[in-house]
Amino acid sequence: MINFQYFTPTKVVFGRDTEKQTGELVKAEGCRKVLVHYGGKSAVKSGLLDRICRSLEKAGVGYVTLGGVVPNPRLSMVHEGIALCRKEGVDFILAVGGGSVIDSSKAIGYGVANEGEVWDFYDKSRNPKACLPMGAVLTIAAAGSEMSNSSVITNEDGWLKRGLNNDLCRCRFAVMNPELTYTLPAYQTASGCVDIIMHTMERYFTREKDTMLTDGIGEALMRTVMDNAGILMEDPENYDARAEVMWAGSLSHNGLTGCGTEGDWACHQLEHELSAAWDVAHGAGLAAVWGSWARYVYREMPERFAQFAVNVCGVTNRFSNPEQTALEGIRRMEDFFRSIGMPVSIGEMGIILTDEKIRELAHKCSFFGTRTIGAFKKLDEKDMEEIYRAAR
Ligand code: NZQ
Ligand code: ZN
Repeated sequence: MINFQYFTPTKVVFGRDTEKQTGELVKAEGCRKVLVHYGGKSAVKSGLLDRICRSLEKAGVGYVTLGGVVPNPRLSMVHEGIALCRKEGVDFILAVGGGSVIDSSKAIGYGVANEGEVWDFYDKSRNPKACLPMGAVLTIAAAGSEMSNSSVITNEDGWLKRGLNNDLCRCRFAVMNPELTYTLPAYQTASGCVDIIMHTMERYFTREKDTMLTDGIGEALMRTVMDNAGILMEDPENYDARAEVMWAGSLSHNGLTGCGTEGDWACHQLEHELSAAWDVAHGAGLAAVWGSWARYVYREMPERFAQFAVNVCGVTNRFSNPEQTALEGIRRMEDFFRSIGMPVSIGEMGIILTDEKIRELAHKCSFFGTRTIGAFKKLDEKDMEEIYRAAR
């Protein structure tokens, strides 16, 4: 087990009707004025936004609103939010939505609390020194941003999608009512479930040995999401299944399933190029590349993939042939993706990848030939091309 820090400062307020507590939760932060940030239309249509505003009014908290965040959130919206917060004297941000709204809020928080261009933090030319405090009312179980230290923003100039990890942006609180996710389209529910599983897989596929407890937590989490994703495809208003998936979404990305292991994150890096270029749902993009990545890297440590096959996918162990067991596990995970309507190739998302486009994606993913990705197996630009080719 390698050394680690585990830091989860977010207060979780979980369960039915919990959004009614939002006003009091914000008031307890002692702020003067709040930016209520939200997405396209779902929070307006469901009446949630209205309920949140009433809750703030009841608690005597002043606020301004800014909607219109799109999936794979854009830098231009972040700039708009920063200008509004400065004009209105906002000192707390409340995100009402999913990963995209929360990430846009985090970026606005960085922009307001620091001088200069906020994109500098995402292209890593500067480090932020502060971030406005924020909280979230979660409406989709997926990205885990409500408890993570990450935010991912797309710069329309060059369509560069970049992540920033820093504890400054961690939410003070996350309100999680599983009932708020009943209105999700099945595709978004499924895409969210893939993302949740992937946040643990990215940490699970490690060459670090002796991580028995962390492995066990991760395996239970992945099985839980697989079982309940199946239930939700049939019964989207099943409270217990929504609750299991929602809680798994937060635990999968708050660091818990990576304690003592080295994260890999290659699939996330490969996927970010797809959602930057074609605006695909992040989880769907992950499902489309994962099998090709897994087949490309599993020989580095077939026993690890065999353990996954047995403990997560229910494969009978062929002790004499871990490679065969590993491959069967990869196949079963792809079967699961298919069973919830997720793609297992890039072509299944309606994207035609030419050789030229593959070279372009790999070049961008390698930050123009300046970095490798992955830890289970380090991947250079040529490896990235091979995986995109296998996944096309
Ligand atoms: O905009 P609205 O109308 O709300 O529609 C959204 C959006 O179209 C809809 N939706 C959300 N809640 C709903 C709902 N529709 C009906 N009922 C509800 N209750 O769902 C769509 C997707 O929302 P989005 O916020 O984009 O989903 P998600 O949470 O998957 O976030 C994806 C973004 O997070 C990033 C991804 O790259 C992507 O940009 N990630 C952020 C991470 C982090 N900050 O820690 C980690 C992840 O790995 C990921 O990269
Ligand atoms: Zn993700």
